[in-house]
Formats: sequence, C-alpha cells, structure tokens
Amino acid sequence: MKLYNDGMNPHDFVRETTRAAAALFAFGAANALYAAAVPTVPDTMQQRVAACASCHGAHGEGLPGDVKIPRLAGKPAAYLLQQLQSFQDGRRHHAPMEYVVRQLSPAYLQQIADYFSAQQVPFHPQPVPATSADALRRGEQLVHHGDPARGIPSCESCHGSTLTGVQPLMPGLTGLSYAYIQAQLDAWRTHQRSSDGPGCMTVVANRMTVGDVTAVSAWLASQPPPANPHPLPASAQTEPLPGWCVVGNEEARR
Ligand code: HEC
Ligand code: HEC
Repeated sequence: MKLYNDGMNPHDFVRETTRAAAALFAFGAANALYAAAVPTVPDTMQQRVAACASCHGAHGEGLPGDVKIPRLAGKPAAYLLQQLQSFQDGRRHHAPMEYVVRQLSPAYLQQIADYFSAQQVPFHPQPVPATSADALRRGEQLVHHGDPARGIPSCESCHGSTLTGVQPLMPGLTGLSYAYIQAQLDAWRTHQRSSDGPGCMTVVANRMTVGDVTAVSAWLASQPPPANPHPLPASAQTEPLPGWCVVGNEEARR
C-alpha cells in the first residue's frame, strides 16, 4: 500500500505513523464511548479534536521544527472546511488525513473548521533553511512581483499584501515550515493536491522551476511571524483573479 505521496525520510515516517496510531486509538476510544449506552465523558469540542492534537497541536498551533504538518489556527474557516472535504473526496491525497476524516459528517467537519479557525495561539519559530542569498532574492521576487515572463503572478496578489490570506478561501503563507510549503508546491506539480475549478495553484506551481520552489519556500519560511495574523477581509481582493483561477466555484468542482 502506498502511504505517502512524497519522499518522506524513514524518521519522519516512523514519527508520523506513531502519531497516526495514537490518533486512531483516540478515535477508537471515542467510538467506544458513543457505543456505550451512558457516555461517561462529555462530548466537548476539545475531546473531538483530541484525535487531531497529536499532529496539529491542541489548538492547531502546529509543531516546532521543519515538519510537513501545517498549523491550522486562525486560517479561514471556509478554507479549512474545503480542505477537509478535499481529503474526503479524493482531491487532496495524504493517507493519514484521508483516514481521520473518512467517517466525519459535513456538520462535524464544519464545527472542526470553525474551532481551528477561531484559535489564536502564538506561532512556533520556523527553522531557517540553509539557502543561498541568490535563492532568497529569487523567492522574495516571486512573492512580491511574480515572474511575468513565465506567467506567474505574485504570490501576494492572491494571498494578500500581508501574506496572511484573504477571506473566505485564500490561505495565508505565514507560519508554515519550509518542508510543508515545498511539499505542497510539489503536490500540485505531481497532481496529488487539486482544488476547486481550474486550480489556481496547479497552474502557478507548474509554471515554477524546481529552483523556484526551493527559493520561494525558503524565503517564506524565513520570515518572522506577522504582527497581525488574521486573514484580510474579502474586500482586500481588489484585482480580479486570472481567468484560470476560480476559487470556490461549486459547479466547476464537480
Ligand atoms: C497523523 C498525523 C495527523 C493527524 C492525526 C491529523 N492530521 Fe491533519 N494533516 C496532517 C498532515 C501531514 C497534513 C498535510 C497533508 C498534505 O501534505 O497534504 C495535514 C493537513 C491538514 C489540513 C489542511 C491544512 C491546510 O492548511 O491546507 C487540515 C484542515 C487538517 N489536516 C485537519 C485535521 C483535523 C481536523 C484532524 C483531526 C480530525 C487532523 N487533521 C488529524 C497530519 C495529521
Ligand atoms: C492566482 C492566485 C494565486 C497565486 C498567484 C498564488 N496562489 Fe497559492 N493558493 C491559491 C489558492 C486559491 C489556494 C488554495 C488552494 C486549494 O484550494 O487547494 C492557494 C494555496 C497555497 C498554499 C497552501 C497553503 C496551505 O496552508 O496548505 C501554498 C503553500 C501556496 N498557495 C503558495 C503560493 C506561492 C508560493 C505563490 C507564489 C509563487 C502562490 N501561492 C501564488 C491561489 C494563488
């Protein structure tokens, strides 16, 4: 069975498998409680998200270190819900995530998305990857100006001038590890992650070179956490998105 879509080193593999096992044990325990006629533990949100905490932290704060597990706290709720649905219906592939969301109802997913979106917790400092000054300059250029010659709009034109995301469906690019950002860009390039509609990031990531992926991931991960981590309001998206980027179009999705 293919468990991972990326080149995970054996150490990460063991660590994540252990976490998945712990999470599944928590799920099993919760199911046993539901099956019992008289539940002895109250069904609180805290208890529901216990199965997520071993990987994402109790408040979705993420883990320290350069890991491929993202922070969830404070991201737009509609974005989190969309991603949970993507793991459920096969548009985004990651075996442990597909497994933990498989049985969850739409109402439950909505509550989980609302919970993590409302969490306000400090950022873990991200380890800065060893990268050349030239690569960091290239990364910064892509973030602020894109690469018109290759048809790459700037990252900030979609992810917000503060890079903290834009409501309701545009995630921020702050507080993410180098390993996670790079893994996501690679996932779009290998079609392990896809989105609503024509797929904004499928186009962006495939117009980048391998060097661009490293450069932009390194620059983003090297930035200090934003003073105000909140996603910008929808009104901040003043420029129309390119025609190939349709966000949240339910019709295009099916
Ligand atoms: C075994 C570890 C593990 C467990 C347990 C786990 N996750 Fe994840 N989660 C991950 C990893 C790794 C990713 C990144 C997947 C990828 O590369 O696409 C992820 C991604 C996500 C994302 C996408 C975030 C984004 O910014 O796009 C959401 C939302 C999420 N998880 C929610 C949950 C919830 C809710 C639970 C509990 C029901 C949970 N996870 C349990 C490891 C885990
Ligand atoms: C044309 C609009 C657009 C541009 C330009 C764009 N993005 Fe995105 N990006 C999106 C959308 C929409 C999503 C949500 C994707 C999904 O639904 O899977 C996203 C998601 C992401 C994510 C996933 C975040 C997470 O929490 O999992 C990363 C990483 C990312 N983009 C990086 C970049 C980088 C780096 C650039 C610049 C080189 C960039 N994006 C430029 C629209 C854009």
